[in-house]
Amino acid sequence: MNKIPVILDGDPGHDDAIAWVFAKADPRLDIRMVSSVAGNQTIEKTTYNMRRICTLLGIDAPQVRGAVRPVTADPVTAGNWHGESGLDGPAMPEPAYPLEEIPAVDLMAKVISESEEPVIIFPTGPLTNVAELLMIHPEVKEKIGRISLMGGGVTHGNWKPAAEFNIMEDPEAAWTVFHSGIPITMCGLDVTEKAIMQPDDFPRIRGVGNQAAEIVAGWLEFFYRYPMQIGYTGAPVHDPCAVLAVTHPEIFTMKDYYVDIELGGEYTRGATVADFKGGLGKEPNTTVVLDIDREKYIDLLIEALHAYDGWEVAI
Ligand code: BDR
Ligand code: CA
Repeated sequence: MNKIPVILDGDPGHDDAIAWVFAKADPRLDIRMVSSVAGNQTIEKTTYNMRRICTLLGIDAPQVRGAVRPVTADPVTAGNWHGESGLDGPAMPEPAYPLEEIPAVDLMAKVISESEEPVIIFPTGPLTNVAELLMIHPEVKEKIGRISLMGGGVTHGNWKPAAEFNIMEDPEAAWTVFHSGIPITMCGLDVTEKAIMQPDDFPRIRGVGNQAAEIVAGWLEFFYRYPMQIGYTGAPVHDPCAVLAVTHPEIFTMKDYYVDIELGGEYTRGATVADFKGGLGKEPNTTVVLDIDREKYIDLLIEALHAYDGWEVAI
């Protein structure tokens, strides 16, 4: 069977990093490129983190620096969740693979147009790069099989009452993506706040016993502290859901809706609004992921981490 060609696009970020742990471990996926975007931290920091994570995991696909800032919105960073570096916690290797000197959207267009099969994009940060790709290279749209993203939520927000961080960061970019006609899978807070990893899980994760497992456990030990202070029962490990919704749909509950992005709204800018009752009379444009089997999520992480048995890099 042919592997699925995929693009990883994120603002790592602990949970972006764990999403990439899953992606690299899955033999059915062929990672064709990785791009950074400004979000959790500045583009310099997320790019450096992207390169260190790829080195840790042995992802040697081309890596590029993406958008420096949202299309029009003011940038916001999430140091409270991810620390000053954007990936605080355990020591990491220095980048071993080069950074391509080409704009991220141009590399995305090249990878997609040269692919024999439709490409799946996994955005786990603000949608700036993907929106710019669609605006600058609209000809590649037909060859994007699906955009499976972490962002939004149909009932509530996290950074704002109605807006989740990735969509709030760049609502205009999100609008462009949701209006593109490309099939979208949206892993919003509806599911990702149920994708909790708790302190009880950490010994089992570390117990896998390889370098990747040790570092993932260390990331979680850092990443759970802030959410615990604000009332979560562990770390909501959001971003891997975007990958797993494609590779392991059986652990999720999903439903198709028409979803649009609120661009105005004194209190609701950046909200992902689902037309539950069909009042807008529009065809569904989004598969909304609503629930996850949390126990199976942890089991899948353990299984993915075993893919790194025998792989170790110098730190
Ligand atoms: C999203 O925001 C970021 O902090 C996480 O990496 C995730 O992509 C959750 O709102
Ligand atoms: Ca992210």
